[in-house]
Amino acid sequence: MQSSVGEVYLVGAGPGDPELLTLKALRLMKQADVAVYDRLVGSEILELLEPCIERIFVGKEPDRHTLPQNDINRLLVDLALQGKKVLRLKGGDPFIFGRGGEEIETLMAAGVRFQVVPGVTAAAGCAAYAGIPLTHRDYAQACVFVTGHLKDGALDLNWPMLAQPRQTVVFYMGLKTVSQICQKLREHGVMDTMPAALVVQGTTRQQQVHAGTVADLPEKLQSAGVRSPALLIVGEVVKLRPQLEWFQSNAESDQPGDGAIRRLSS
Ligand SMILES: C[S@@+](CC[C@H](N)C(=O)[O-])C[C@H]1O[C@@H](n2cnc3c(N)ncnc32)[C@H](O)[C@@H]1O
Repeated sequence: MQSSVGEVYLVGAGPGDPELLTLKALRLMKQADVAVYDRLVGSEILELLEPCIERIFVGKEPDRHTLPQNDINRLLVDLALQGKKVLRLKGGDPFIFGRGGEEIETLMAAGVRFQVVPGVTAAAGCAAYAGIPLTHRDYAQACVFVTGHLKDGALDLNWPMLAQPRQTVVFYMGLKTVSQICQKLREHGVMDTMPAALVVQGTTRQQQVHAGTVADLPEKLQSAGVRSPALLIVGEVVKLRPQLEWFQSNAESDQPGDGAIRRLSS
């Protein structure tokens, strides 16, 4: 029997590999009555839910929201007011390009109790599994997370800041704008030789990494047929990948396996 007062668990599910879930995320996943989840939450993570849990898919395709954000906010409140323990499961971390702030603002306004569980954000997960350290004593003393999503048809970003040396810039939601991003960086002084990589379906068995420079990566991607989700990493640290690469996905291997192979020899 449900208590009269429900609660919402705003949980980050990480970028894809289910083993990147936190223990707290897993515990709350097991005790929820209903799960409200996005497109970026993969099937392997959904399989960890209890079979009896009610599941509500609220979508969020790159150009199409299955349910508008306001309706999602309202849905969470309504379910909690029915006395349910609501698992709001999001890809990555709920507070990094996840609109988690808006969701809990609505909960707070409605007097609904909630908890926030951070998740491994795509930048951390994809970089780690691609063998690209986001900071490095020799190459990057800062790391910037930025959206590559067009706003009113334009990439209205602080390009002089993003073009600064000795930092790594990670573009979320930038798959469709890779060419524009690289062009803008070059216009603002980034050298044509600056390394850049696109990590596709990072941390999963389907992970692919396309590496190049800001000058040639857009063209390399044209014939690659890349699909979302994809994350663009720009910075000197990308050149460390050939030495530090350790994760071999099925997409990059001829051998069947569990996707994780540690290379012990050079
Ligand atoms: C709406 S944002 C959500 C970010 C999420 N809250 C996080 O912390 O990772 C979606 C973007 O995250 C990036 N992303 C998420 N998961 C990814 C993955 N497994 N591989 C590559 N990029 C990913 C992509 O840039 C995608 O367009």
